Amino acid sequence: MAQGTQRKFSPEAQKEVDKILFSYGVKESAVLPVLHVAQREFGCLDRAAVELVASTLGLSPTRVAQTASFYTMFSPAPLGKHVIQVCTNVSCSLLGSEGIVRYLEKRLGVERGHTRPDGLVTLSTVECLGSCGTAPVMAVNDRYFENLTTEKVESILRELGL
Ligand code: FES
Repeated sequence: MAQGTQRKFSPEAQKEVDKILFSYGVKESAVLPVLHVAQREFGCLDRAAVELVASTLGLSPTRVAQTASFYTMFSPAPLGKHVIQVCTNVSCSLLGSEGIVRYLEKRLGVERGHTRPDGLVTLSTVECLGSCGTAPVMAVNDRYFENLTTEKVESILRELGL
């Protein structure tokens, strides 16, 4: 059954993967950092990317796909340039995250769980970003924005050129 697309890492990404494998020693424990490299390299973890990670680590594609599915930063479909994740867990929800999500949906013209057709934005809701004391919180790619209000969200969107 080992057919599939024969995808490869670029030489730079392969170098990074080799370094990760070297520092982890046990291949299996390197699954998350190698998934990160693959997600960045291919823009998503589609089947071919999962198969590549699996063969790199000597694991089954199913196992790799299952691991990836636990983490919101890994996606089987291409994500937008700006990945906006709004926490809707208890603290954030009590302090208005639902209103923030609705504001973003309307303002950006994309529903939660989707990527805008121009590929600029992916909007999703997530369960706790680990910053409950500064709720409501959202992340845009690797940056956190806290104590959100719609006014604050608007100025963040403008800063991002959205
Ligand atoms: S509940 Fe939103 S960051 Fe924890």
